[in-house]
Amino acid sequence: MDSLELNKTVAAVLVAGIVFFLSGFIGTNLVRNLYPEKVAIAIETPQEAPAGGAPAAPETPIAVLLAKADPARGEAAVKKEGCVACHTFNDGGKNGIGPNLYGVVGEPIGKGKDFTFSNALASKGGNWTFDALNHWLTKPAAFAQGTKMTFVGVKNEQERADIIDYLRTLAKTPEPRPTPTAEELNPPKAAPATPPAGEKSAAAPAAAESIDTLLATADPAAGEAMVKKQGCNACHTFNQGGKNGIGPNLYGVVGEPIAQGKDFSFSTALKAHQGKWTYEELDKWLTKPASYAPGTRMTFVGMSNAKQRADVIAYLRSLSPNPEPLPAK
Ligand code: HEC
Ligand code: HEC
Repeated sequence: MDSLELNKTVAAVLVAGIVFFLSGFIGTNLVRNLYPEKVAIAIETPQEAPAGGAPAAPETPIAVLLAKADPARGEAAVKKEGCVACHTFNDGGKNGIGPNLYGVVGEPIGKGKDFTFSNALASKGGNWTFDALNHWLTKPAAFAQGTKMTFVGVKNEQERADIIDYLRTLAKTPEPRPTPTAEELNPPKAAPATPPAGEKSAAAPAAAESIDTLLATADPAAGEAMVKKQGCNACHTFNQGGKNGIGPNLYGVVGEPIAQGKDFSFSTALKAHQGKWTYEELDKWLTKPASYAPGTRMTFVGMSNAKQRADVIAYLRSLSPNPEPLPAK
């Protein structure tokens, strides 16, 4: 009896071992063999590019573009542009045809990562600033003549900024976005009387009105529509007992402890905030998640419009059998 049990156990362990071995084999051989196909496709792209079309150097300052950038759009662009055929973006991800790109913002150019860089890139010197990345991604072959990155470049400046903003979020503590200078925002040649400073950037709200004041006239129905418009529902459910997605279910979040429970594994960045989701905390969080909790996993740029934030918070407040009282005036 005992030896029969033992045999079964040994057999089970052997089968598991074989399966493990085979999956490793398939992983390293088959998947690796797929790379050349993808390169063949990627290498074709330079020929498709119209010769005169793309500028070799960026035009609008990167700080201005980053103020309107969206890392989620950048993540989608990285797939669309085919960067994923050559690069991984996750922490500790393998090098492929190109190096793993986790944490690349601020790192030395063409160094480390156990990757053999071309001399062209390795001899550049300096770090990957936002500006350097902007030049590189505009036209790699112009930034580093002889680079191994056979990629024609990203023509659309806002798409480039979205990609750079996405790269920025790939860090435990993402670097803050650069603040555009007055001159960058308002270049001398086309000097409009009113620069689009405040409203376009998701930076600190200029509004003097506090969330308490705004909530008095906020509209939960407008908030619900805004939640769809902003794409919160791509990551969150809002119904009672709704499933977690990329983000936690948000039913009843107003008044709850920050980043706890819900069977969701929150980032340490958000968990570091103690206390509850008061209206003020929600307001700060939704203004700019990455500033409220640097390193948060909520890759959402934020909402710069205070009135719209108040509507969203009023909607969140309504998701409860007994909504929290509105702030006293
Ligand atoms: C055909 C494969 C390929 C594609 C497509 C590709 N890359 Fe690369 N990438 C490389 C290679 C190879 C290198 C190393 C270049 C060198 O050593 O000259 C590199 C280097 C880089 C670096 C510098 C890394 C460092 O640590 O210095 C960045 C940043 C980068 N790529 C971003 C991107 C982005 C963003 C895209 C898409 C818009 C992209 N790449 C598309 C192959 C590719
Ligand atoms: C790209 C996915 C994504 C989008 C879009 C997104 N979120 Fe999140 N959200 C998350 C993730 C992931 C977390 C957990 C963050 C962490 O642990 O750092 C989170 C956390 C939260 C929390 C804290 C929940 C708690 O229990 O502590 C609130 C509130 C929230 N999100 C509201 C919103 C609202 C409102 C929007 C739209 C304006 C939005 N989110 C858009 C992914 C997203």
